Amino acid sequence: MPANDLSPSGTSFNRRFGLFFDFIYRSLARHPKRNVAILSAVYLGVVLLFGWQFTVTVKDVVTDEFNQQQLVLAQTAAEQISHQFWMFKKELTLLSLSPEIQGADNAARARRMQIAYESLATEGASAIAFLDATGETAYIIDALGLRNERGIPSGAALLPWARDKNNRGTFYISEVSPPAGDSDVKHMLLNIAMPVWKGVGKYPDPATATFSGLLLIVVDVSSVIQQFTDGIKSGKTGYAWVIDSNGTFLHHLERSLIGKNAFEARKEKKSTISFARINEIQKKMMLAGKEGTSWYESGWHRGVEGKIRKLIAYSPIVLDDAPEKRIWSVAVVAPVSEVEEAIHNIQIRQFLFQFFIVGIILLGALSLTAVMAKWSSALKHEVAVRTIELKKSEQKYRSLIENAEDIIFTIDREGKLLSMNNYGCTFLGRSADNSIGRNIAEIFSWPTAEMLLTTIKEVFSIKQGRQVTHLVSVNDRDFWLNTNFRRLLDEEGNIYAVLGISRDITHRKQMEQQSYYTEKLASMGTLAAGVAHEINNPLAIILGFTDMLIEKTEPGTEMHSVLNTIYSQGNKAKKVVDSLLSFARTKEHSEVNVDINRNIEEVLSVLANSLLVSKISIQTMNLFHELPPVKGDPDELQQVFLNIINNAAYAMKGGGALSVTTQSIDDGRRVEIRISDTGPGIKKEHRKRIFDPLFTTKKVGDGTGLGLSVSYGIITRHRGMLSFETKTKEESDTPGTTFIITLPAAIAHPVQKSNT
Ligand SMILES: Nc1ncnc2c1ncn2[C@@H]1O[C@H](COP(=O)(O)OP(=O)(O)OP(=O)(O)O)[C@@H](O)[C@H]1O
Ligand SMILES: [Mg+2]
Repeated sequence: MPANDLSPSGTSFNRRFGLFFDFIYRSLARHPKRNVAILSAVYLGVVLLFGWQFTVTVKDVVTDEFNQQQLVLAQTAAEQISHQFWMFKKELTLLSLSPEIQGADNAARARRMQIAYESLATEGASAIAFLDATGETAYIIDALGLRNERGIPSGAALLPWARDKNNRGTFYISEVSPPAGDSDVKHMLLNIAMPVWKGVGKYPDPATATFSGLLLIVVDVSSVIQQFTDGIKSGKTGYAWVIDSNGTFLHHLERSLIGKNAFEARKEKKSTISFARINEIQKKMMLAGKEGTSWYESGWHRGVEGKIRKLIAYSPIVLDDAPEKRIWSVAVVAPVSEVEEAIHNIQIRQFLFQFFIVGIILLGALSLTAVMAKWSSALKHEVAVRTIELKKSEQKYRSLIENAEDIIFTIDREGKLLSMNNYGCTFLGRSADNSIGRNIAEIFSWPTAEMLLTTIKEVFSIKQGRQVTHLVSVNDRDFWLNTNFRRLLDEEGNIYAVLGISRDITHRKQMEQQSYYTEKLASMGTLAAGVAHEINNPLAIILGFTDMLIEKTEPGTEMHSVLNTIYSQGNKAKKVVDSLLSFARTKEHSEVNVDINRNIEEVLSVLANSLLVSKISIQTMNLFHELPPVKGDPDELQQVFLNIINNAAYAMKGGGALSVTTQSIDDGRRVEIRISDTGPGIKKEHRKRIFDPLFTTKKVGDGTGLGLSVSYGIITRHRGMLSFETKTKEESDTPGTTFIITLPAAIAHPVQKSNT
C-alpha cells in the first residue's frame, strides 16, 4: 500500500488527537485549578486501582507459589514415609529368610531378632515378634528387652492366614491402633506380619518347606511419621499432619490430637467454627488419594485461637500391601498470614514506588498548570493589548470613513446596501435605518439605479473594479457623482461585496461647463464687438440724420411717420448693439460694494406690477440677513437679475411662484443667489444652448436671445458663476427652473445658521 493511502486515516487520527488535546487545553484553560485538581484525583484513583489490582495479583501468585512449595514438602514427606514402610517390608523379608529365624534353635533366633531389632528400632520399629507354628510360644524383643511369652493374641488370629501356602512371601498390614492400655495416646502402632517357612536352600521348595511361624514387626507409626514431618516448617509457623484412611490423626503438632478422628476432634475443640471446607478436602481429596493445594478455615494455630485462614497442600501415602490399598495423607498447612507477611514487603515497596511516580507526575502536572496559568495570563494581556490596538485602528478607520467627504458604502450582489457612512446618509437625506438593507433601486430613480445595478453586477462577474460618472437626483436636485466600485474579498479570495466611494463632482462639472461657455462666449464676444463697432458708427449717422430730417418735416405727414419708424427701428438696433457691446465687455465697468439683497429688491419693486398682472407671487423670505456685500457694478448686476426674473416671468405666463433666495456659502467667502420659477422647465435639447448669444425660443420680436449671454458675460466679469437646474414635467412632478448665481464676497462673513 502506498504511504499516502494511509494519510486520510492518519490525518483524521491526528485531527481527533488534536481535538482531544484542544478539548483538554480549553477545559484546563477555562478553570485551570479546578480541572488540574480533578485530573489529579482521577489519576490518583486510577493509579490506586491499578496498585490494588497489582497487589491482589501478586498475593494470588505468591499464595500459589507458597502452596506449591508446601505441596513439595508434603510429597517429599509422603514419599519418605512410604519408603520407610518399604524398608520395613524388606527387613521383614530378609529376616524371614534367615535360617536362625526359620530354625528350631531358640537361642539363635533370639540373637538374630536382637540384631534386627537394634537396627530397626532407630527406624521406628517398636518391637519384633516371632510366633511359632503352634501359636503357643512367642519371642518378643522391644525396648524392654527379649521376652518369651505365651502367644500374642493378634498373632494367633493371623496364624491361619500364615499357614496358607498361598500367602507365602506376602505381607499382612494391620489397622493402626493405639497401644493397648496406654491412656496417654501419643503413638499409633501398626503390625507388619509375614509367614516364615523352613526349607533347604535360599529359596526352599514349597512342596518340601515346612511352616515354622509368623514374624511380625510392630511399627511405631507416629514415630516413623515424626521422623519425616517434624523437620517440616512451612514459612515460619507452618507444620504437617497426617491422617489415616479413617481420618484418624496419625501425627499432629498437637500430640493430644493423635489417635483422634480429625473430623470429630476439630469440632470438639472449636464448635463455633465451621470446618466444612477442610472436611470436604479431607473426604473428597485427601482420603481419595489425590494430591493438591487449597485453603480452609481453622480455629487455632500453634496455640493462637480464633478464625484463621490456612493454606493446605496434601499428598497421599499408599500402603500397597494393605487390604484395599490403604491410603493415608500428609498435609502441610500454614496460615495465610505467612504469605501476607511475605507480600507485605512487596506492597510497601510498590507503595513507595507508586508514591514516587505519582509524586513526580503530580509535580509535573502542577508545574504544567503554573506554566499554563502564566502563559494564559500573558495571552490574556496580549489579547487585551491587541484588542485595544484593534479598536483604535478600527476607530481610526471608522472616523476616516465617517468623516470623509465622500459617500462610502458597501453593496451586495443583488444591489442591497450593506453599509453607508454618515456623509452618504446626509447627502441622500436618509437615515442609516432607512438606507441600509434597502436596494439601490429604492434609493435612486430609474435610469441611475439601472446603470448602478448593471455596473455592480459587472464588478461581481468580471472581477475588476469600475469607475463611473453619473447623475443622481436627490430631492429634485441633480448631482454629478464620480463613483469608484471596488471588490471586497473574503479570506478565500471570493468576492462577497462591492465597496463604493462616490465623490460629488457637481461643482467641478459646473466649472467645466462655465469654462466651456466662457471660451465659447469669448470668441463670440470678439466677433460681436467687431460687428457692433462697425454697426455703431453708421447707426449713429443714420439716427442723427433721421432725427434732423424729423425736425425738418411736418408732423402728421407720411414722411414724418416714415422717419419716426426709421428712428425707432434704428434705436432698437442701437439697443441690440449696446447689448452686444456690454456682452463684449466694451462698456465701462465700475466696482463698488453691492448689497445684493437690496439690489434684488429694487429689481423686484420695478417688476412688481407686471408680475402681479401675470398672477405670479413673489417669495423673498429666504433673503439672508447678514449677507456679505459683493464687489461689482450694481447696474450690471441688476441687469442680470432683471434678465433672469424676466425669463422666469415669461416662463410662468399663466401664473406661478417666483422665489428668490440668497445665502452666504463657503464659510462666508461667497454669496449664492437662487432664482426659481414654477414654469415648464427648459427642454433637454435647449439646455446646452441657452447661454448662446441670440439663442431664443421666443417669438420673433419678443426676444433677442441676448438676455442670458449678456448676464453670463457680466457674472463672469464679476468672477462669479452662473448655472441652472431645470426639470420639465416629464422629469418631475414639480417642474421649474432655478438659476444659481454665485459671486465672491467683498469681505469674508461668518455663516449664520438660519435664514429669514
Ligand atoms: N426661466 C426660464 N424658463 C424657461 N426657459 C427659459 C428660462 N430662461 C431662459 N429660458 C430659455 O432661454 C432662452 C434664452 O434666454 P435669453 O434670456 O438669452 O433670451 P430671450 O429671453 O429669449 O430673449 P431676451 O432676453 O432678449 O428677451 C429663452 O428663449 C428660453 O427659451
Ligand atoms: Mg431673456
